[in-house]
Amino acid sequence: MKRTTKTLRQAKGNSQIVCITSYDAVTARLASAADVDVILIGDSVGNVVLGFDSTVPVTVDMMAHHTAAVARTHPAALVAADIPFGVAHGEFSELLKICMRLMQECGAEAVKIEGGAEMAPTIARLTAAGVPVWAHIGLQSQNVYQEGGYRKFGKTDAEYAELLAAAKAHEQAGAFALLLEMMVPELAEEITKSVAIPTIGIGSGKACDGQIIVMHDILGLSPKKPSFAKVYADLGTQAVAAISEYGKAVREKQ
Ligand code: KIV
Repeated sequence: MKRTTKTLRQAKGNSQIVCITSYDAVTARLASAADVDVILIGDSVGNVVLGFDSTVPVTVDMMAHHTAAVARTHPAALVAADIPFGVAHGEFSELLKICMRLMQECGAEAVKIEGGAEMAPTIARLTAAGVPVWAHIGLQSQNVYQEGGYRKFGKTDAEYAELLAAAKAHEQAGAFALLLEMMVPELAEEITKSVAIPTIGIGSGKACDGQIIVMHDILGLSPKKPSFAKVYADLGTQAVAAISEYGKAVREKQ
């Protein structure tokens, strides 16, 4: 069954939503075979497969290239693409053009945008233009230089209240879902109960309406993975063994 923003809304309170990242046709086919609900072409493509230290260097061209590769496999999952660093803070007409490129030329069915309540007016304008927006709050990897690293969010009363307000503002603005990254589980639970749209958590506890994970982290393919990501299959170790076996066969002229 094709997943849409509508089927995700209907899932809230009924079934958990399974989301995963993918950046190419190979992993998109794997995600489809595993029947996930949402495939995110995350800007984590930068640090996970392109060799950057963070998501900050990821450009619109890179997102377009990887989104198109995933969409060409025609997944039943909803295909969402990240809006990279800085873009959502620029001219609205430029942002709309980039969303149009990702949707019209690359096959994205939604975009994900990092940002607190200050991003709500932009989300409202995109929604009015027919662009489905998945709002991303809590840890925003695009702010890594400003923050000086990665951390848990919502630990102070002020930050807790600010994130709760941002969640409500994004819902009001028309976001079809919220991504809650690395926030204290009590806050993720309160947000999930306070909004009618689905919440998708990562490192934010079990109370969300669904979860997302970086595929390479759970397949043992990431050199650095967050502690909350369980390795379900260590394909990295298996791949090294397979390539070594091939190398041995070549060297022994087999
Ligand atoms: O880019 C990404 O992979 C993300 C994660 C939070 C899933 O946004």
